Amino acid sequence: EIRDIEQVKELIKSYPDFPSEGVLFRDIFPIFQNPSALDCLLNNLVEQALEFAKKQGSIKIDAVVGLDARGFLFGPTLALKLQAKFVPVRKVGKLPGQTIKFTYVKEYGQDVMEIQADAILKDEKVLIVDDLLATGGTCSAAENLVSQLGATVVLNQFVIELSDLKGRDLLTAPIYSILSFG
Ligand code: PRP
Ligand code: HPA
Repeated sequence: EIRDIEQVKELIKSYPDFPSEGVLFRDIFPIFQNPSALDCLLNNLVEQALEFAKKQGSIKIDAVVGLDARGFLFGPTLALKLQAKFVPVRKVGKLPGQTIKFTYVKEYGQDVMEIQADAILKDEKVLIVDDLLATGGTCSAAENLVSQLGATVVLNQFVIELSDLKGRDLLTAPIYSILSFG
């Protein structure tokens, strides 16, 4: 039985040189093999987001934006608990209808992110969630997409922050993470 977040951290496995040389890959999926660990992590994530909203004067978060693919593991749960809608930001070519796109650079390559143009409304308050902050390229692309739609990112939330990669420096909105690796 997992009771605290430090025990959750111990479940994250590290793989040198994956998916390419020089990258120390942190794998979150062992957490999903352990229901009490997953429960602990999700509770921490929800509590942190609620605390943030309260600290900002009990603001209402309108939308949780989850980033393809591992942000989808956390976004809908967080959205439910915040009574917000969930909206995906996806790798290009996966979303039907009218979309907007943004090209970005991440820790291991270049990619294009896309969001449905009608999924977020002007002036809405958005929380972006992803499993991990590395160089910040992915989340920065999502921040850009949200602001192109006239909405405001109030918080970027991550399960893991790789602090040495300084992804924080690329982001505009406040950043909260549950676990950090140097
Ligand atoms: C990983 C991770 C983040 C991003 C972080 O996703 O889940 O989304 O990279 O890197 P960055 O801060 O340097 O941009 P990846 O692109 O590997 O896609 P996946 O979730 O589809 O596996
Ligand atoms: N783990 C998982 N996803 C990632 C990583 C990592 O270390 N770096 C960039 N994306």
